[in-house]
Amino acid sequence: MCGIIGVVGSSDTLETLLEGLQRLEYRGYDSAGVALVRQGETWRARVATGTESVAALRIECKNAPGEFHSGIGHTRWATHGAPEAMNAHPHVDCSGNVAIIHNGIIENHGEIQEQLESRGHIFTSVTDSEVLAHLIEEFRDQGLELVEAVRQSLHTVRGAFALAAMDCTEPDVIVAARRISPLVVGTAPGVTYLASDVPAILDRATAFYAVNDDEIVRLGPEGFRAIDLEGSPVRLRQLQIDWDLETAEKGGNDDFMSKEINEQPEAIHATLLDRRRRDGSIIFDELRVSDEELRNVKRVVLVAAGTSHHAALVAKYAIERWARVSVEVDISSEYRYRDPIVEIGTLVIGVSQSGETIDTIQAAREAQRRGARVVAVSNIVDSSLAREADAVIYTRAGLEVSVASTKAFVAQVAALELLALRLAQLRTTMPPEDIDALFLGLNAVSAQVATCLERREHVRDVAKQLLGSHDFFFLGRHVGFPTAMEGALKLKELTYLHAEGYPAGELKHGPLALIEPGVVVVAVATDPAMHEKILSNLAEVKARGASVVAVATDDDEAIEAVADFVLRVPATEPMFTPMVDVVPLQLFAYYMATGLNRNVDRPRNLAKTVTVE
Ligand code: M6R
Repeated sequence: MCGIIGVVGSSDTLETLLEGLQRLEYRGYDSAGVALVRQGETWRARVATGTESVAALRIECKNAPGEFHSGIGHTRWATHGAPEAMNAHPHVDCSGNVAIIHNGIIENHGEIQEQLESRGHIFTSVTDSEVLAHLIEEFRDQGLELVEAVRQSLHTVRGAFALAAMDCTEPDVIVAARRISPLVVGTAPGVTYLASDVPAILDRATAFYAVNDDEIVRLGPEGFRAIDLEGSPVRLRQLQIDWDLETAEKGGNDDFMSKEINEQPEAIHATLLDRRRRDGSIIFDELRVSDEELRNVKRVVLVAAGTSHHAALVAKYAIERWARVSVEVDISSEYRYRDPIVEIGTLVIGVSQSGETIDTIQAAREAQRRGARVVAVSNIVDSSLAREADAVIYTRAGLEVSVASTKAFVAQVAALELLALRLAQLRTTMPPEDIDALFLGLNAVSAQVATCLERREHVRDVAKQLLGSHDFFFLGRHVGFPTAMEGALKLKELTYLHAEGYPAGELKHGPLALIEPGVVVVAVATDPAMHEKILSNLAEVKARGASVVAVATDDDEAIEAVADFVLRVPATEPMFTPMVDVVPLQLFAYYMATGLNRNVDRPRNLAKTVTVE
């Protein structure tokens, strides 16, 4: 996830870009850069400091020459290529005339780069994005206008993008385009803007327009015109923006938590993008563990805390089922104090959104000290955990601000299940066609999550009716169990109410004694193989007076007999259900918390990243 901004026709170009980049820093801050363009000249500055890149860029730009009326800027969240200045955007073509910025992933960059290099192009970065500058250069060399050159280039690339391109031989024009990654255009008299989102240009533009997938926009000082990939004119929808800056930073949502819940389809999609070669093999570019090592893994140990621990529990089911390797999951604060056994062939996976949770870092260090290979699953590029581990898989959920983790969880499950499929591929524990089918199914989860989000009003309604309750049990079986644990964690940290996640079958071994009228039981009941058993468990609690809320699939009629409230979700492959089923549970916790006037972004006593033991 990166942030992009552009302006054409401004008397204040550099400041507009730097200010906008500051507001886009939540999208990434590994590196930042700007390119200012005037007739025959492109001036470029790029820095990579890891955390404060935009501030460093401002210093770097102190001596920028004046009188540039157009320019583009970028703040980066590294995916392809290390967070170094050479990989910072804007990238330029061989002539230095064309400058581009890009948010997203060009999936087929490898093959395009090979072809471009065979035609003499010289690349100066290790990014997927640079191919765009060289592709546009080739079409410019054929005499095409910039907008046409961009349009033709987009027919070659696959993947996701919000991009902007400039050429100093056509200086008062920026061409922007979008597929999947967000992009808006803004206008003011004599000036036109583009940005990844509205806050970056909120106090400069007076009208805002949404760019849709596969639309290309030519921006000039006088305004803009938009076309589709075939070159036909399209109209951009004007956005009604009556936000102040603070609301705008939350994307128009009341708080970061609801923004992040809404971003889950994109988080899953981005995490899965560019992970499979044409021959069907699953790849993790950044994972520096050889196929041989993965093939010979004897045991997997996952260490994690909180929500990341729940994602790790889901991964246990997937890795054991698909790759037939035995898996242990440890709470990271427990791992290093129990004298863990690390045998040859043990792969330890540290799962952490921040990559800075001290318990997980210490657990990973302990595992390394005992000779294990350690893989980090981190949402933050170059986090401490990612740096110290032998290898890393990045989730691409984008910056998570709210203390309660939401989009990081679904991205972690997606990444870990993908790793499970990779292990199955290497160990030939499943037929290739089954792996292909699961990969396709995993890619469909993003849309299923979007469907759950559309049903938020019903969840709000259920939460409203249960607002006076004080005791909650969340039940599930199989992967429904970690999902239930996650639902309970969300509710307790956001509302400060008592909530416990339990394996449904374990209830009768003790906790059933606590069930009485007034207690709410929330059950994850979406797995067909577990369905009858869950229904029996629910009948048991209902008979003792509990109110029952069930997360159930659209086609489940039997659930009505035991549930007082049903939160419907689309059916999916059982192993993928945690990513789908967690959504109504997050929304339930959110609406319970807002109903109780809790601060959902900053619950009491908690911190986003726990750096003390
Ligand atoms: O950054 P991490 O994933 O390592 O953080 C782990 C936990 O501190 C975190 O998931 C915490 O439980 C959240 N507040 C849950 O919403």
